[in-house]
Amino acid sequence: MSWVTRDVMDDINEATGRRWRDLDPMLPAPGDLPEGCSVPLMTTGGNGRPAGVAVCRHEYIPADALEQVWGPATRLVLTPRLREPDTHAALDDLLGQWHDHLAGLPEADNEDAAAMIEWPSRDISGVNALLKHGMQAITVIAVRPARRAMLVVDTPADVVIREAGPDDLDAVTELEMGVIRFDAHFGAAIPRPATETLVRAATRKALARRQAWVWVAERSGQLIGLVHVLPPDESAWIEGMTGPGSTAYLQSMFVGPDERGGGLGAALVKRAHDELDARGISITLLHYAQMNPLSAPFWSRMGYRPLWTGFQARPAVALR
Ligand SMILES: CC(C)(COP(=O)(O)OP(=O)(O)OC[C@H]1O[C@@H](n2cnc3c(N)ncnc32)[C@H](O)[C@@H]1OP(=O)(O)O)[C@@H](O)C(=O)NCCC(=O)NCCS
Repeated sequence: MSWVTRDVMDDINEATGRRWRDLDPMLPAPGDLPEGCSVPLMTTGGNGRPAGVAVCRHEYIPADALEQVWGPATRLVLTPRLREPDTHAALDDLLGQWHDHLAGLPEADNEDAAAMIEWPSRDISGVNALLKHGMQAITVIAVRPARRAMLVVDTPADVVIREAGPDDLDAVTELEMGVIRFDAHFGAAIPRPATETLVRAATRKALARRQAWVWVAERSGQLIGLVHVLPPDESAWIEGMTGPGSTAYLQSMFVGPDERGGGLGAALVKRAHDELDARGISITLLHYAQMNPLSAPFWSRMGYRPLWTGFQARPAVALR
């Protein structure tokens, strides 16, 4: 790892771990920094001691990957580790260095490329540095420990909440597309030419799974709402964002526009939570768009709270 020695890295990671434990017990222990595109960025504190390091990675999401709908195709991702409880000065310095690094990359100017950081939501000391450098909060990863209380409402009498199966493919695909079209208003989703085909293929696979992890709300034969959870073996890509435990990812939640505000969403989530609790899931994670006016209050009532906030500068040259 070039001139950032193993000792320095271990020392900063340990201090970061202590900070994170105090800030938020649902954060993971900070793992080793990933391999970066160049030497790690480093900043020193007033006493000349290393105060923080950060690694820049470049991710290119191909057009045939469904994931491309959930953000820019080119993701220039910074992973920082900061020692002091007040992260402002160290983060400010690292973001300045990162700006200089990105300014030399031709792809940083592309509208479909963003500079991105996942920041612990409760680490409020760094937010002003992120805003100062032109980053905006776009997404939130929220967490619910098992059996955390949620607001429970009665399911409307004429609605059935049931497992979804292969025969529901058309209707469930349309509900999944509803989430994407809605979140596109807030910069969290970017619909692509291949999105609908890819959603249909992923939905077909999800509906074939037994036991079921997709539940729908049905009235008079019409599907009007959906909750879709990924089981632990399909949630490994995100489980490292929280501590140990059997982790599931709540991928989609949608209620048709004319059906909202009547308790359907809460009834669907109640059914999913009952199943998850019975299946021994200890942590559920989900993403919502920070600026979606319906999701943050809804998920709070359902027992979720922010864990990580996803900041972006798009295009990446917008990083100041
Ligand atoms: C978020 C979403 C799934 C919520 O579904 P919903 O069926 O409207 O949820 P609920 O009815 O359970 O709760 C919504 C509101 O209705 C209220 N409500 C629930 N039951 C009620 C009842 N029986 N009578 C009156 N109001 C009720 C809730 O208190 C809540 O109040 P609010 O206006 O203060 O937010 C839905 O708005 C949606 O699909 N939005 C678009 C897509 C989206 O944002 N998905 C989430 C992406 S992460």
